[in-house]
Formats: sequence, C-alpha cells, structure tokens
Amino acid sequence: MRPATVLASLQSLALALAAAVTIAEINGNKFLSPYSGQTITNLTGLVLAKSSSGFYMRSTTPDDDPATSEAIYVFSSTAGAALKVGDIVSLDGKVAEYRSSAAYLYLTEISSPKNVAVLSSGNPVVPLVIGKDTPPPPTAQYSSLDNGDVYGLPGGSSNVSAVNPVLQPARYGLDFWESLSGELVTVRKPTVVTRPNSYRETWVVGDWPATGRNEHGGITMTDKDSNPETIFIGAPLDGTKNPTTSKMGDQLQDITGIVQNTFGYYYLLPLTALTTTADASATPPATSLVSGGSCKALTVGDYNVENLAPTSAHLTKVAAHIVDFLKTPDLVFLQEIQDNSGATDDGVVDANTTLSTLAAAIKTLSGVAYDFTDVDPVSDQDGGAPGGNIRQAYLYRPEVLSLYKLNPGSGTEATAVVPGPALSLNPGRIDPASAAWTASRKPLAAAWLAKGAKKPFFTVNVHWSSKGGSTSLQGDARPPVNGVVDRRLLQANVTGSFIAQILALDPAARVIAAGDFNEFAFVQPMKDFASVSGLVDLDIAAKIPPTERYT
Ligand SMILES: *[C@@H]1O[C@H](CO)[C@@H](O)[C@H](O)[C@H]1NC(C)=O
Ligand SMILES: *[C@@H]1O[C@H](CO)[C@@H](O)[C@H](O)[C@H]1NC(C)=O
Ligand SMILES: *[C@@H]1O[C@H](CO)[C@@H](O)[C@H](O)[C@H]1NC(C)=O
Ligand SMILES: *[C@@H]1O[C@H](CO)[C@@H](O)[C@H](O)[C@H]1NC(C)=O
Repeated sequence: MRPATVLASLQSLALALAAAVTIAEINGNKFLSPYSGQTITNLTGLVLAKSSSGFYMRSTTPDDDPATSEAIYVFSSTAGAALKVGDIVSLDGKVAEYRSSAAYLYLTEISSPKNVAVLSSGNPVVPLVIGKDTPPPPTAQYSSLDNGDVYGLPGGSSNVSAVNPVLQPARYGLDFWESLSGELVTVRKPTVVTRPNSYRETWVVGDWPATGRNEHGGITMTDKDSNPETIFIGAPLDGTKNPTTSKMGDQLQDITGIVQNTFGYYYLLPLTALTTTADASATPPATSLVSGGSCKALTVGDYNVENLAPTSAHLTKVAAHIVDFLKTPDLVFLQEIQDNSGATDDGVVDANTTLSTLAAAIKTLSGVAYDFTDVDPVSDQDGGAPGGNIRQAYLYRPEVLSLYKLNPGSGTEATAVVPGPALSLNPGRIDPASAAWTASRKPLAAAWLAKGAKKPFFTVNVHWSSKGGSTSLQGDARPPVNGVVDRRLLQANVTGSFIAQILALDPAARVIAAGDFNEFAFVQPMKDFASVSGLVDLDIAAKIPPTERYT
C-alpha cells in the first residue's frame, strides 16, 4: 500500500473510535472532562434548548451513571441558528473547559462545532423533574473538599479544578448540579428565597426536601448548612425578562430551564421569564417589643443606614423604618453615618448635620425626639467611600437614657475601662491605634444610665471589616475564601477583650454589643468574639430557633 493510503485508513480508524464517544463519556464522572482539548466527531444528541450563543443537547445513548451528565452545551452563535428544539443532530467539535474568571468552576462545552447534521426532527423533549426524575439535591454540604464546613478556615486550601474529585451527587451540592450540567430540568413549586440582584437573578428552592426553611418562606443558613439545595435563576433563554419585584417567600410557576455553571454559580437558565403565582408579604411584621420607659424595660434597635448623608434620598425611608418597624426604640445603634458633607472629600468629619437631619425626620413622622452621640473619625482613616468618613453613632431618647459620666473622646483617643466599672472617655473609641482597625471603623463604646437605674449599662457599636475578596460559595477555591477574615479575627479579639475587662470588674454588668459584624454568627470570628468577650449571642439567649436567625 502506498503511504497515503495507510494514512487514510488510520484516519478512518481514528474517526470510527472517536465516533463512539457519548456525551456522558465527554462529561465523565468528575468536574473536568477526560476529553478536554480533544476533537470529537459524530457526537449525537437531542436539541433541548437554544440560546443566543449556542444550544444544549442530550445524549441519545445515555449511560446509567448518575454522576455523568447526559447533556452538554455547544458553544456557537451560528451553528444552532437553523436547528430546532427536538432535532436529533450529529456534529464534530472540540471539547473545551471554559470559565470567565480563575475563581470560578469550569464549564465543559463543545466548541467550534462543524458538520452539524440534522438526523431527525420533531422528537419529544421532556425535562427532568428535579427530585422526581433525579434525586433531590443535597441539603447541607457543597463539596468533598470543604472538610465538612463551607465556612471552615483556611479558605482556598484546595481547588476543585486541581483535585477534580469524582462527583458524589447524592452528598455534595456542587457535584449534584454538575451532574446535571447542560440538562433541561423542571423545578416544581419554586419558592423565592432572595430578592433579585441588579441582573434580575434570584435564588429559589423547589418542592424537594430542604433544611432550614424559615417562617417567612425563605431558607436560612445555619452552622455547616449553607443551602446547596437552592438554585440561582438566571436570564431567560428566550430574551424575556424576569421580574424585579420578587421577594423572599413568593411562590412561582414551575420553572423549566437549563442547568449551567456561569459567573461563579450553577444557574438554572429558564426557557422564559418567571411568573409569580402567590406574593409573600413585602416585609416582616414590626417588632412587638414595647419600651417600659425606664431601666426595667428598655428597647434597643440596630440599623446599618448605608452611607447616610444629610442629603441622602433614602434618609426619609430610614427614618420611617425606625418609626414603623423598630418602633422608635430607646436606643438605636447606627452604622455608616457619613459626615456633614457626605462623600465629598473636604476634610469635614463632623456628622451632627447628618444625625440631626435623621432625628428631625423621625420626629416629623412620630413625634419622638432623639438626641445623638458619636465620635468623629480622623478624616479618611476608617475606610469606606473616600471622604464619607462613615462611623457608628447612637440615637437615644433623653427622657429614658443619659450618657453616664459624659466625657467624649476624640478620634485618636482610646477609652479605658475604669473601676466602677465606667469608661474613661464616654463615648469613646476602642483602641483606635490598634493595627486591627487600620482603614476600618473603630468600635464606639458608651456607658449609659437608664431612668430608675443606679448602675450604668454599656454598649459597644461595631462595624467590622467587610468581606471583600471572598470567593463564591460555588467557586473553585475550597473551602471558599472568606475575604478579610484575618482582620475580623483580630477585631473580634480587640472588641472582645475590651468587653471582658468590664465583666472582670463586674460580672453582673449589662453589656450590649451590636452593629455590623460583617460575619455570620456561626463563623470563627463570631465564635471567638463570644468566647473572648463572655457575651452570649442574643438569639441564643432569647431561644430564637436557628432557622429564624436572620435579618
Ligand atoms: C454517527 O452516529 C449515528 C448515531 O449515533 C450513527 O447512526 C452513524 O452511523 C454515525 N455516523 C458515522 C459516520 O459514524
Ligand atoms: C487555586 O487556583 C487559584 C487560581 O488559579 C490559584 O491562585 C491558587 O494558588 C490555587 N490554590 C491552590 C491551593 O492550588
Ligand atoms: C454642629 O456642630 C457645630 C459645631 O459644634 C455647630 O456649630 C452646629 O450648629 C451644629 N449643627 C447642627 C445641625 O447641630
Ligand atoms: C487578643 O487580645 C489580647 C488582649 O489585647 C492579647 O493579649 C492577645 O495577644 C490577642 N490575641 C490574638 C490572637 O490576637
């Protein structure tokens, strides 16, 4: 035989071998395809759905391994144009692993499809009903690489893409959704569990068994259970738009769509826009707690007012929330009060206009007159929007409360716990020179005397460092990276040690720490804070069930 002929017959042998590859074999039983980078020929499947950038097809020769998805995404803005849902097609193409960020999981797809041939048309397309045609999603754990705790430390000690573990869809949420990658599925009786984001994407949970459902119709994260049974609903494949007004507890019509990992999450891309069938109440009820107007029954509220300046459009809404939902408590812990000139970076740090404008708005709505107190930070040293100089502050009802031995500190002075116990500076900041607070908000401590009381009580108003740099719960890094957690661990220790000094002088002292801890109660900084300070989580003290612990 001439060499050219030998070559030709080897090629046809290779083609014949490649033709035996099924979609399940391409997906394999792990996150990454064993065929990544290889060209395959005559891949056959049923067209399930189309998008503007490709189409999804399901194997006509499925296996019986629940770990291998029987469906796959074919990436091409042109190849699918002439195809119809229900066509059985064959094509050649290249197996690719795609992600738009190194922090995300990869999507296995077929790229550069060629020789797309329609073998038959009008075939039935039946979605898999999740929890009926598939097992229900796991309810607690995300990945075998999380060591049992998706918020365990240190984050990022391994990557899914490096380990590429065998999928265990009955045990781990990421594995479950990966085992359905590219599939057309139906979520029956979906309940909305979050408001939509700015892309109109929202999380839902279907009619399958779920742990952590709360009384408002949502689902609550608890220790070592961060709800992998929820699924993110993305943009509809037909170009329609999801509602912007969905909210926790809303019921939706059944959703049929494609499972796809994109933008750091497993999404369900619905065939068409979501339809609400039953509206939940827009807001939870107002507090039923009532002030006794003296030390025997004080009411306390807390509100992060989000970059509030005197001219903020949301100031009246904040005032209304304090009146209507918090019911004008005797003492309000505030975070993110900006200075009088808002985000203008002009050296102004005084916030008395911001606070008096808020107090005036509350008075207009309710007749309740608040006094306020805070400590001005040093300009541009506490993080947040440049020039805004956000800080914590207190509103208080002067007929019920007064500052005990008033002696305000400055932004650079540390208040100390002195015999009594009392505070050397009141109000005062906790250890503002500590490296724990560089470019962050220093806690605001205060001692108060309530009407009818002989002893003061103490408050610590915190706004710990935010979680910037965190990776997705469904991202590549395992456990996920909890951004800036090292700082919050330090902040927990400094704040907790201060409180422990008060309790060392008087074990019966009343101390309330509140504010924006930027952390979940069951994650290490908060556990450290409780153990170092000696305080008890109020939800635990009040015996609030774990599923009702959310704001
Ligand atoms: C391609 O696959 C289809 C069905 O899977 C099969 O009927 C056909 O013979 C294959 N074609 C080639 C050229 O291998
Ligand atoms: C995980 O992947 C990221 C991004 O590619 C990389 O920076 C990091 O070093 C990896 N971590 C481990 C533990 O391999
Ligand atoms: C804010 O404080 C400054 C300086 O103490 C004072 O002159 C001004 O009247 C105060 N403004 C308000 C609105 O309370
Ligand atoms: C916690 O704070 C105490 C008291 O300020 C200090 O002695 C200790 O070293 C701190 N521990 C850590 C882990 O930062």
